[in-house]
Amino acid sequence: MNRRKFIGIAGASVLVAGGGYYLCSDKNNFTRNDVKKSSSIKTPLSNDEREILYLASLAPSGHNTQPWFVKYIEPYHWVIGNDKTKWLPGVDPTQRETILSIGAFLQNLEYAANNRGYDCHFDILATRNQDENIMDVKLIKSGIIHHYNIQKIVQRRTVRSNYLTDALKSEDVDYLIKEEPGSIHFISNTTKEYGWLNEQTIEANRIQSYREAAQKELANWIRFSSKDAEQYRDGLTTAGMEIEGIPGWVLRNFYGKSAVMKNSFRKESVDKVRKQVSASAGWLLITSKDISITSLLETGKRMQRLFLKVREKAIAIHPMTQILEESPTNQTLHQSIGISDPVQFILRTGYLKTYPPPVSLRRPVERFVRH
Ligand SMILES: Cc1cc2nc3c(=O)[nH]c(=O)nc-3n(C[C@H](O)[C@H](O)[C@H](O)COP(=O)(O)O)c2cc1C
Repeated sequence: MNRRKFIGIAGASVLVAGGGYYLCSDKNNFTRNDVKKSSSIKTPLSNDEREILYLASLAPSGHNTQPWFVKYIEPYHWVIGNDKTKWLPGVDPTQRETILSIGAFLQNLEYAANNRGYDCHFDILATRNQDENIMDVKLIKSGIIHHYNIQKIVQRRTVRSNYLTDALKSEDVDYLIKEEPGSIHFISNTTKEYGWLNEQTIEANRIQSYREAAQKELANWIRFSSKDAEQYRDGLTTAGMEIEGIPGWVLRNFYGKSAVMKNSFRKESVDKVRKQVSASAGWLLITSKDISITSLLETGKRMQRLFLKVREKAIAIHPMTQILEESPTNQTLHQSIGISDPVQFILRTGYLKTYPPPVSLRRPVERFVRH
């Protein structure tokens, strides 16, 4: 065999081996559409109960931990619980965000129940963010259906990329905030406060990326492979983080927890945040009247009511909570933006040209109902 022929055969073999590897690799991002519907776990839930709880679980949560569970007491009577194993002590040591997320779950639950002709009777049980039993819920068939377009719950999603910088139309801002006077504040990209929020979001992300407890916690909630995504049905997937194409393929096949702790990963994450904040129409801030658990649950519900309204206006929302989670930035927040009530959510916002479908995963209802 001459030298040329040998190189030709060797090159072809490498290509075949590479192609073979690619064919056996984790080729696509695993998304909500890939989930198989069937479940072998049995519960006493009726179809209505199951559907209402499924829609409730489409609520957003920090790192998509889904920190709720449901104690089944009797038909149409549940206690909504706080799942300690899903807390994020590295970034949320007081469980503030856990309670806000449970608030969002309760808002979805209420809309879904009303749409099926049930009134919700809520009785708060918790007095602290750490209590296990949060809310007693009874669904009473009222006969009066308060229609709610369930597609708003199904289609809602966090969007992180491709924001336009066009100003929000004043009628759209009105639509988003008029029913929540004094507690939702729009900060447009023409103001000085906007510049402060952009810079401090980058700074807070930089601080957080180099804080070991926070970074380790993040590593534990990233589901790099499709196999992990399908098994856990929670956390941050490559699809949820909007990492597509070759970068997504590389992450799914070659990355794991240890990669997240490398300086290169931390630097890339901060660079990504810098790019994200460089494009938006502004920020939406949500405040609460105090920091009691009742107010936090109400604020989580308020955030969800807002989040469910934006898609129909082609407006995206991206919660970026690091300013609130890191003390150097949190300490100067209120003075710098001139708001005195406690800020609970910092949401980047802007129009999109095309609105992507929801991709984040949820645990099946059977896995979070205890009976
Ligand atoms: C309290 C809270 C804090 C959040 N903080 C962030 C954040 O700092 N950065 C981010 O990219 N997403 C954040 N999110 C969005 C979640 O990651 C997102 O809701 C979750 O991954 C599920 O995705 P979905 O909203 O598309 O269903 C937050 C959500 C909530 C409710």
